[in-house]
Amino acid sequence: MNLNIALPKGRLGEKVYARFAEAGFPCPGVLSESRKLIFDNPELSVRYFWAKPSDVAIYVERGAADLGVAGKDILLEYEPDVLELADLDTGKCRMCVAGKEGFFPDEQRTLRVATKFSRIAKMHYAKKGREIELIHLNGSIEIAPIIGLSDVIVDIVETGTTLKENGLEVIEDVAPISARLIANTVSLKLRHAEIDRLIKLIEENL
Ligand code: PRP
Repeated sequence: MNLNIALPKGRLGEKVYARFAEAGFPCPGVLSESRKLIFDNPELSVRYFWAKPSDVAIYVERGAADLGVAGKDILLEYEPDVLELADLDTGKCRMCVAGKEGFFPDEQRTLRVATKFSRIAKMHYAKKGREIELIHLNGSIEIAPIIGLSDVIVDIVETGTTLKENGLEVIEDVAPISARLIANTVSLKLRHAEIDRLIKLIEENL
């Protein structure tokens, strides 16, 4: 039976695939610049497919993939029913609260928070006992505080360039983020030895 592995489309996925290949699970064509999405290596009984990064955990949760690679941001936001097997120590960034340079929140007023990561933002402020009004956006979140749609944003900061170029700065760190190897719960039970061996080989290549 094939071991199905869902990779996140993009640079992070390519980097992680290289690890799988080095660990002895290569598959011809995966890195070719075609529009093909599914690749099989019948000799090794492994199948890779390129999924939208935010969808990888869905394939794994439902068993359409045995293994996958997902950012910790997605795991925190959607809390999929998957097992987190290893921190791949790549795709590192931070989940942060950011606002206009010099922004000082008025503690008496409800804080307006724009984000793509509603659950993460809600949990962060619930822990602090701070009342917020959540504004869910789908991208280009940095615009919100600049044009007055929100007071702050909760978003991913990698190099910090996007914030800087838009006159924003980090106010607080919420969580460190990196790529995680995840597994379907049933697959892990049924194919424990095989998956364990794969994890060890990948960790040796870290
Ligand atoms: C992410 C994030 C920031 C940016 C941070 O956006 O939402 O906008 O990257 O990276 P930096 O600190 O290196 O500048 P993404 O490119 O995923 O697009 P989005 O605007 O659709 O969220």
